Amino acid sequence: MEIHRYEKIWTVAALLIIVGFIATVTYGTVGAGVKMVDDSGGTVDPGSLDDTEFSDPGVTQVGEDEYEVHVVARQFLFQPGTSEPIRVPANSEVTFYITSADVVHGFELVGTNVNTMVIPGQVAEVTVRFDEPGEYGIVCHEYCGGGHHTMAGQLVVVPEDEYNPEDS
Ligand code: CUA
Repeated sequence: MEIHRYEKIWTVAALLIIVGFIATVTYGTVGAGVKMVDDSGGTVDPGSLDDTEFSDPGVTQVGEDEYEVHVVARQFLFQPGTSEPIRVPANSEVTFYITSADVVHGFELVGTNVNTMVIPGQVAEVTVRFDEPGEYGIVCHEYCGGGHHTMAGQLVVVPEDEYNPEDS
């Protein structure tokens, strides 16, 4: 059977494109650590967050350099984050637990690799290290209604010796 030259070229090109796509997905999973939102953070009843650990969201110290931050996303703010910044000390490992009280939101810490969907009923769990003091914007990147574009917040990594848990 004879295959035309152009037919061969296009067949090879199509195969290379497929291999390329598989390679990018593999890199995203293994290299860049991109993951689907899974159930490792657990589930909550979005209608009764007051009966859960999200009743008083905020920063909790759980180890010498380890902190947990519970965040509730709702139309159109992060609690905490929007009306007051989330404050954590530098040189810390911070695990965020984020859930939604209403619709699907997003939680992206601009400039870090923290970027997750926030799904009602589901708790998104993300851990990140902050070695240096700094300020990070928080944005909602899932369209969640008329005020979506205003849904933002701030995280401040304060120098270790200036950190006061009372401020959070
Ligand atoms: Cu919340 Cu967009």
